[in-house]
Amino acid sequence: MASPADDVAVAQRVLDHIQRGTTDAGAEVWREPVANYLSEQRFAEERALLRRTAVPFCPSAALPQKGSYLAREAAGVPIVAVRGADGAVRAFRNACRHRGTQVAQGAGCVKSFVCPYHAWTYELDGRLRHVPHEDGFPGLDKSSHGLVPVSVEERLGVIFVNQDGSESRTDPIPALLAPGREIIGYRESELEANWKIFLEGFIEGYHIRYTHPETFYPYGFDNLNVIDLFGRSGRITYPFRRIRKLEKVDPAQRKVAGLLTYVYHVFPNVLVTILSRHTNLVVLEPLSPGRTRQLSWTIANDAGEEALAEARRDQEFVGNTGALEDRAVVLSIQQALTSNANEVFTFGKYESLIVHFHRMLNEALRA
Ligand code: FES
Ligand SMILES: [Fe+2]
Repeated sequence: MASPADDVAVAQRVLDHIQRGTTDAGAEVWREPVANYLSEQRFAEERALLRRTAVPFCPSAALPQKGSYLAREAAGVPIVAVRGADGAVRAFRNACRHRGTQVAQGAGCVKSFVCPYHAWTYELDGRLRHVPHEDGFPGLDKSSHGLVPVSVEERLGVIFVNQDGSESRTDPIPALLAPGREIIGYRESELEANWKIFLEGFIEGYHIRYTHPETFYPYGFDNLNVIDLFGRSGRITYPFRRIRKLEKVDPAQRKVAGLLTYVYHVFPNVLVTILSRHTNLVVLEPLSPGRTRQLSWTIANDAGEEALAEARRDQEFVGNTGALEDRAVVLSIQQALTSNANEVFTFGKYESLIVHFHRMLNEALRA
């Protein structure tokens, strides 16, 4: 969660905007070439960037105990993350050192990884422990045939994996997920659209009134947002109309829970949406220029039966209403990419978090 002092500042900025009829605005209009949503070469460069960046892999809560593991593809590479006997999280390329079979599937809890093909067996720290009929491999140095590790870091309630580098996250992102929270849902879906079109729909409030007239807009505002940048990442705040009740509250005493939604964009392809009762960690995995897999973990903001039930209700509402409206728009854009109507897409002053994203992405790809 963001710190209370920060919440107080955000509340003040929102109330000021309501009073003045303003919103946060960027300084720059950005023109993004449509070719960047279609090009195979650009796609390959973006995936390479994902592999050399510390990217959220899953919430810490997905690996709750010793032996808990999660295996999935990240930027086209099968990776497995596991909480070891010492409580530390490690991550490996998910490929057996004999003939390359993936040693873990999906999620679960194990004492060791046993390859399903010939049962080479690995400790949770990656060491190769056992080779059946080992005399068939004269001279095999077991110590150099452990699972191949990749750099991993557990921070902010999130497991970050950096496949091709060891640099950790430098963005000063506030705490995203408190440790020890319970995962109340996990969804995976695929969408026939470029991952960036998907992402863009989450990080501007210019569309709320028109795309969500009967779902989100009745609770929210037209084009009224607060934008904060944290290094390459950022956050957009979507206030609810009921936040006006804070006008009468002493600024230092203002509590924003239930009065706004925070959407953190964790560069490049992850979103953390903090709603009234639940938080989603959403990973947009690019599968091809025109195909994206969305992985979404839902975590209750509060403990207790009642809080969990309310969180589930809220999650259903968002997932079955506004989120469907967003998906329809994303598909519509994707299908018209090849219409040749646009050489560029124009992002205005009220889409400034998207502008920041494209500027950071361009810089990172050039580096
Ligand atoms: S491929 Fe894993 S044991 Fe043979
Ligand atoms: Fe939307």
